Amino acid sequence: MKLVKLFALIFLFGFAFANGTTSNNRKHYIVYMGDHSFQDSESVIAANHEMLTSVMGSYQGAQDAAVNHYTKTFRGFSAMLTSGQANQLAESNKVVSVFESKTSHIHTTHSWEFLGINNLEQYHQQSRNSTSNVVIGVIDSGVWPESKSFSDYGLGPVPAKFKGECTTGENFTLSNCNRKIVGARFYYGGFIADYGPLESFNHTFFVSARDSDGHGTHTSSTIAGSVVANVSLYGIGRGTARGGAPGARLAIYKACWFNLCSDADILSAIDDAINDGVDVISMSLGPDPPQPIYFSDAISIGSFHAFQKGVVVSASAGNSFLPKTASNVAPWILTVAASTMDRDIQTKIYLGNSQVIQGFSVNPTEMKSFYGLVTGSAAAAPGIPSRNASFCKSNTLDPALIKGKIVVCTLEAILDNRKEKATSIKQGGGVGIILVDPLATDVAIQFVLPGALISLEEAEELQAYMASQKNPVARISQTKAILATKPAPQMAMFSSMGPNIISPDVIKPDITAPGVNVLAAWSPLSTDNTAGRSIDYNIVSGTSMSCPHVSAIAAIVKSSHPSWSPAAIKSAIMTTATIHDNTKNFIRRHPNGTQTSPFDYGSGHINPAAAIDPGLVYDFDTSDIIDFLCSTGATPAQLKNLTGEVMYCRKNPKSSYDFNYPSIGVSNLRGSISVHRTVTYYGEGPAVYKAEVDHPAGVNVSITPNELRFEKNGDKMSFVIGFTPYKASNGEFVFGALTWTDGIHVVRSPIGLNILSV
Ligand SMILES: *[C@@H]1O[C@H](CO)[C@@H](O)[C@H](O)[C@H]1NC(C)=O
Ligand SMILES: *[C@@H]1O[C@H](CO)[C@@H](O)[C@H](O)[C@H]1NC(C)=O
Ligand SMILES: *[C@@H]1O[C@H](CO)[C@@H](O)[C@H](O)[C@H]1NC(C)=O
Ligand SMILES: *[C@@H]1O[C@H](CO)[C@@H](O)[C@H](O)[C@H]1NC(C)=O
Ligand SMILES: *[C@@H]1O[C@H](CO)[C@@H](O)[C@H](O)[C@H]1NC(C)=O
Ligand SMILES: *[C@@H]1O[C@H](CO)[C@@H](O)[C@H](O)[C@H]1NC(C)=O
Ligand SMILES: *[C@@H]1O[C@H](CO)[C@@H](O)[C@H](O)[C@H]1NC(C)=O
Ligand SMILES: *[C@@H]1O[C@H](CO)[C@@H](O)[C@H](O)[C@H]1NC(C)=O
Ligand SMILES: *[C@@H]1O[C@H](CO)[C@@H](O)[C@H](O)[C@H]1NC(C)=O
Repeated sequence: MKLVKLFALIFLFGFAFANGTTSNNRKHYIVYMGDHSFQDSESVIAANHEMLTSVMGSYQGAQDAAVNHYTKTFRGFSAMLTSGQANQLAESNKVVSVFESKTSHIHTTHSWEFLGINNLEQYHQQSRNSTSNVVIGVIDSGVWPESKSFSDYGLGPVPAKFKGECTTGENFTLSNCNRKIVGARFYYGGFIADYGPLESFNHTFFVSARDSDGHGTHTSSTIAGSVVANVSLYGIGRGTARGGAPGARLAIYKACWFNLCSDADILSAIDDAINDGVDVISMSLGPDPPQPIYFSDAISIGSFHAFQKGVVVSASAGNSFLPKTASNVAPWILTVAASTMDRDIQTKIYLGNSQVIQGFSVNPTEMKSFYGLVTGSAAAAPGIPSRNASFCKSNTLDPALIKGKIVVCTLEAILDNRKEKATSIKQGGGVGIILVDPLATDVAIQFVLPGALISLEEAEELQAYMASQKNPVARISQTKAILATKPAPQMAMFSSMGPNIISPDVIKPDITAPGVNVLAAWSPLSTDNTAGRSIDYNIVSGTSMSCPHVSAIAAIVKSSHPSWSPAAIKSAIMTTATIHDNTKNFIRRHPNGTQTSPFDYGSGHINPAAAIDPGLVYDFDTSDIIDFLCSTGATPAQLKNLTGEVMYCRKNPKSSYDFNYPSIGVSNLRGSISVHRTVTYYGEGPAVYKAEVDHPAGVNVSITPNELRFEKNGDKMSFVIGFTPYKASNGEFVFGALTWTDGIHVVRSPIGLNILSV
């Protein structure tokens, strides 16, 4: 709990200049009205104003209160309202629900910088042409259109089905869109209603889709950046940068400002994206944990409409590193965790006795000579206890003792501002920093002076050396990329974990993909986390970075199978994932190599080539989702809250674990049960698939039939999974897997059971 609080603090830091949401007791509410049959946006807005007039008392009042209007794929608006006015609106029979617009955060560990190398080449390289008809909508902080990654060289005309537009704005003209960036829109009404004028943030910004934060440029280029040769960050990790789907098109929806995204704006962006005709929506952002119930969460509601219209939504699970913190967990969203790649960056620290210590950072320069080493605790400023000085925070170090030296610092708390320590050393005349950081050694920061993070083991070596010398010295080298590191992938320390607190029968996250040390395009104006240096490509980490990898693969699967539903695409990605690392052992979690479970990575690490040809698919549609929600106790009123239509549950709803999800979860197993699933065969000619079971502890599993014979492409077959428990799992989940295979395709579903009684 403490960690969550600390984590929240980092975000609060970003709120420093924010304007309160509660001035004169009005809050920002989303008034959601579901589907509509109005002819055009103008009539929806007129009707919205009329409805608002009834509670505000005047038309002028209504206009002043209204913030955003949702007019395309569903109807609604957001407005500044008192709770009384919100309740009054909620009572209208036209209104489905009224809920507060909250703030989502981008999912980059934005105060940290990481180093590594782009290994997108490991992915299946679909030819440029086959994805050229796919459009990915990216809801983020905009785009830096001049980046070479957005060149449209060799691309054909914009797909005719795309109906979006290139909205011009500050430093963004029609010529900033091309055949790569096929659409650009931006939204700030919700943001300024919540936080006040953009100017009050004292940061560079553009009132347009132009990105001054870097985040949106990074995620967009990771998804569909064109091939750009000879890219690096300060020469580190030099190579060819390419998005996962370099032939695909990007539609940019800027709804995030200074790393904050108003839910009211996100909902506008989703409304537009669906209506514009995108195939995939990528959202590297989400609510802070705990995940809100779907019925009052803008992202869940918006994504549901997207799913209904055949649009895949891929979203990041978050960076909250604790169990039960995964966000964006609705079953109709592809929820993405983050893991490491098989390339690493290393910053060697040479000691005076020719020992070498392994460090991690983004260190562009090579120290030419050795400098004296001093610990922060031995360099306390007058009146500062040495323990306090060991953390190297501002105004705790004595300049006379650190001048010309490399200072060795420790962490006080996991979320210490690591960059600030280097800044305080630089201010005192120090020349380098070595930070003992037991957690974030894969978290490489761009410090304002040469520096590196080291692990506890390395710290012991360093300490032994320093204790043995009267005048210990060290030299910090320039960072180098190291290839083929093992083991990889490992789950990132920060990646948010399941179980799913809203629907515990649906295992979350769904999938993991590279999210540590990802090199991609950047906004040259975003220098907060680059030690003030203006750069075109940057290396950052977070589930924000893994989500676009999955969005790109979803686009490739979509281009190979244009008729597949979002659920089928999701199934293809999940059932082909791997749970092994490059040492053939099970994927472990950084930094201590701890054991993992599907609550870390869902079905496993993404395997793009296999996802294109999964063999079998677990499909589901909107009515299956409704059945699932009914089985978990959703009321007709709640369903209306989500779908916007009057809905009734069937008399005898199926069991929640019978939802045809590509993974198998039972959160309250009491005695024997039968779980049902149906698979669709995609292949040429007849095929026979056989079941293999990895039994979870304490339960016997039977599959009936355990052989599926398909005649032709598109055949569906159902089977029953019998669970007979013989040992309760004491409140913990136990895990196993069901795998169907025809000898070529491997269709794997993790099983997660909480055995309450036998
Ligand atoms: C790709 O598409 C372009 C135009 O749509 C066409 O000229 C070109 O021949 C295609 N390339 C391949 C390899 O199919
Ligand atoms: C934005 O446009 C203004 C006016 O055209 C220009 O002076 C400025 O340099 C531009 N800024 C950037 C970052 O391109
Ligand atoms: C807060 O918002 C109000 C109204 O939008 C504005 O007048 C005021 O300047 C803002 N305050 C700050 C600190 O930005
Ligand atoms: C705004 O930023 C400038 C330049 O970074 C800085 O000098 C100034 O103190 C900042 N103002 C506030 C109110 O933080
Ligand atoms: C790559 O770029 C660097 C400088 O940015 C240059 O020195 C080098 O020659 C380039 N390499 C190739 C193969 O173009
Ligand atoms: C030293 O740190 C402790 C807590 O970590 C704090 O309470 C105390 O005020 C600090 N002392 C000084 C002199 O800064
Ligand atoms: C990793 O191990 C270190 C040393 O035993 C311990 O302090 C730390 O809490 C562990 N971290 C995690 C995430 O388990
Ligand atoms: C519908 O959503 C609103 C806003 O979250 C909530 O207050 C209301 O209770 C919901 N209705 C039902 C039946 O859940
Ligand atoms: C589980 O399977 C084993 C071996 O097939 C069998 O001996 C045992 O009786 C089974 N247990 C239950 C509870 O069915």
